[in-house]
Amino acid sequence: MIKSEQITKIFETKSGSLIAVNDVSFKVQPGEIYGLLGPNGAGKTTSLRMLATLLKPTKGQITVNGFSTEKEPGKVRGSLGFLTAQMKLSPNFTPHELVTFYGKLNRMPKKIIAAREKFLFSRFKIEEYRDLLIDKLSHGNAQKAAIAVALIHDPKVIIFDEPTSGLDIMTAKSVTDLLMAEKTRGKTIIVSTHYMAIAEKLCDRIGILLNGKLLASGTVAELNEKYGVKSLEETFFKLADKVEIREAA
Ligand SMILES: Nc1ncnc2c1ncn2[C@@H]1O[C@H](COP(=O)(O)OP(=O)(O)OP(=O)(O)O)[C@@H](O)[C@H]1O
Ligand SMILES: [Mg+2]
Repeated sequence: MIKSEQITKIFETKSGSLIAVNDVSFKVQPGEIYGLLGPNGAGKTTSLRMLATLLKPTKGQITVNGFSTEKEPGKVRGSLGFLTAQMKLSPNFTPHELVTFYGKLNRMPKKIIAAREKFLFSRFKIEEYRDLLIDKLSHGNAQKAAIAVALIHDPKVIIFDEPTSGLDIMTAKSVTDLLMAEKTRGKTIIVSTHYMAIAEKLCDRIGILLNGKLLASGTVAELNEKYGVKSLEETFFKLADKVEIREAA
């Protein structure tokens, strides 16, 4: 499970304090995919980085798989697979070398690493690229390799920032299909996206983040009912109309 309780992140910048994430609370249960939907600069990456212990909240509490990010960051990190666009794979290694390295880092026995690598690479159809340098791979294949690295240790919790960003629809589908399969295996999954279609198709519940604030949260049906609309897009624009959306830096 992921539990975020009133998390806030304030960045001190040259032009003053910026409240990137403002009092955000949500829960994600095992077997559920939660989507953080919001425009550029809404605070999605900052929220996910706090969940993954890469950034300390200015205020608030986070528990991942029962561990506090503040008190047991090592246990949190061992429980999760994290992916973000900013975290590029080392270009001078191959997918095979990277998954083996991360598997060992997670103290996995060699045989288990090999089996998991086989499963992930065949699922993503990247077996034939396993020994090519990341530098030589297409964006889509490099993204699939990054996902394989993030999931090599079969983590209970999956935190993926814009997992389908820049991917063609076939490649994007192989990523969302894998996430759906992981969900049915009881994983706790949170993704961020600014694509309505991804949020609608992939996520069981969606949180709409604008200017760092979680303005609404629920299933698409619940949001439609609450806002008297027929689609997620309409809910989004209804909420966006009420606030002045800040410019992303
Ligand atoms: N390390 C940092 N220092 C200062 N400001 C930051 C830092 N990281 C993020 N910000 C600011 O915090 C706000 C939220 O950024 P964040 O990256 O979380 O948004 P996002 O929702 O992920 O946007 P995008 O869709 O563009 O990825 C932005 O205004 C951004 O400029
Ligand atoms: Mg982002």
